[in-house]
Amino acid sequence: MAIFDTHAHYDSGGFNADRMEVLAALPVSGVQLVVDPGCDVESSKEAVALAEAFPHVYAAVGIHPSDCAGTDDAAIETIRALAQHDKVVAIGEIGLDYYWQDNPPKEFQQEVFCRQIELALELDLPVIVHDREAHGDSLAIVLEYPSLRGVFHCFSGSPEMAQELLKQGWYLGFDGPITYKNAKRAPEVAAITPLDRIVVETDAPYLTPVPYRGKRNDSRYLPYVIEKLAEWKGISADEMERITFENGKQLFRLE
Ligand code: NI
Repeated sequence: MAIFDTHAHYDSGGFNADRMEVLAALPVSGVQLVVDPGCDVESSKEAVALAEAFPHVYAAVGIHPSDCAGTDDAAIETIRALAQHDKVVAIGEIGLDYYWQDNPPKEFQQEVFCRQIELALELDLPVIVHDREAHGDSLAIVLEYPSLRGVFHCFSGSPEMAQELLKQGWYLGFDGPITYKNAKRAPEVAAITPLDRIVVETDAPYLTPVPYRGKRNDSRYLPYVIEKLAEWKGISADEMERITFENGKQLFRLE
């Protein structure tokens, strides 16, 4: 078994009680690689520290749209410095989130998103994009940077939007919600996504798949997401696991 959880927030407070134990136990449960994306300067630092502590953990560094209030030059410079670390494989989690009323204004989110995209291009790193209820603006912004590559995390856009991104060489991330009964768009998006562009994510401690919905998520529940995708694509779960592991390595350029 070799599972790659390409998006899990082990730096989050949800793991304060048992973070090191959970992370240490992952390889024996078949989870051989994890990327932990930061959501602000502090959590990016913590993600890097976890990547230093565990050979199977890599970090991404960035400022999440919901946490971007007050982002200034100094914050971007700190992200730039953290991104030079050997185990940092992407800039993320960055993007736009128009869902929460009290998030920073759209224009400011867009400015912080663009600054971090430019940082990724300068450092030749892929990006991990968070797009919640901001599909039109997220797509328009990434298409302004034709050489930009990365993953749309927990992709929730339309099949048409997926098509645009796939044409540009992007990967799409699939998470626990694809196991929920009301998942409508996800099977349509999966149907048009080539096998070599699918990555799997937990977004732990959030988005726990059925049958553990409601509990804290961790990478050991990722097989439920892999099984659902395998069913939709008409291949075995083993094959889906192998393919998504390779895709994660390609996306984050891991040997
Ligand atoms: Ni996330």
